[in-house]
Amino acid sequence: MKKDILSLADFELSDFTMLFDRAAELKARHKRGIPDRTLTGKSIGLIFDKPSTRTRISFESAAIQLGATPIFIHSGDTQMARNEPIEDTARVLSRYLDGVAYRTYSQELIEKFASVSDIPVINALTDKFHPCQVLSDLLTVIEHKGSIEGLTVAWIGDGNNMAHSWINAAAILGFSLNLACPKAYYPDKDIMTRARKKNKRIFLTTSPMDAAQGADVINTDVWASMGQEHEQKERQAVFAPYQVNSLLLDVAARDAIVMHCLPAHRGEEITADVLDGPQSVVWDQAENKLHMHKAILDVLLTS
Ligand code: CP
Ligand code: NVA
Repeated sequence: MKKDILSLADFELSDFTMLFDRAAELKARHKRGIPDRTLTGKSIGLIFDKPSTRTRISFESAAIQLGATPIFIHSGDTQMARNEPIEDTARVLSRYLDGVAYRTYSQELIEKFASVSDIPVINALTDKFHPCQVLSDLLTVIEHKGSIEGLTVAWIGDGNNMAHSWINAAAILGFSLNLACPKAYYPDKDIMTRARKKNKRIFLTTSPMDAAQGADVINTDVWASMGQEHEQKERQAVFAPYQVNSLLLDVAARDAIVMHCLPAHRGEEITADVLDGPQSVVWDQAENKLHMHKAILDVLLTS
């Protein structure tokens, strides 16, 4: 049966470990100049309804490095923009392609797309989840800390798609997750409830200092996500106390790492000294998107 990655909620521990191991292996081989052409002759569609730098280009490069051909599809240039039913698009693309990564707004839409696709469908970000990003970020944590087990991760800011994927990961991997968000921007209740049934060490507070206390990983994201640009001004006011800066870093573990999935806004959700400082691992995070996306394509398209 074909496998999709639409969210981390339906992941098992073995799914995580398989992807971490394969990504590490592919990365090590790439660094040694050893090619892995496991997807020769295959075509991978990359459908984007929203902008992207990292996700698009790392998936394109991942496909090329594995011997496949990526086909970038700006949905606005297709019949999707003229209301062709998403199911019809999915059925047709299944006849041309071997896999699809899709970035869109609605999680329901990608689920509908995947439900009638005969090929693996990968969530390249929706308003609700960003699973591939969090997989790459976890790989980065493992590289820097040896393991995710026993660590405390702090999430500071919006209870958004990134926060949701971290919550889903914590449910299965069992690390402690302290989320600090303004009340009106708390993560989705159902996602929290479902995750806390599996892992009691997922905490939600409005206090960034409480969340960051002793944390091994300090994580943040933009205050206004794609599609929320019109809310930028009001969000800036509400989120001002949630800035990741040196004062916040002072209460974290001495060897804490700082993460941001990028793009970042220096002076808003994170200060320049912290983003560009010695504890920041953001460039490793960005690089690991390539290696994790190679692992995802390899695992989904060869099994
Ligand atoms: N982190 C991330 O998904 O970046 P892009 O929007 O550039 O793909
Ligand atoms: N939360 C952000 C992540 C960008 C990679 C957004 O959805 O715009």
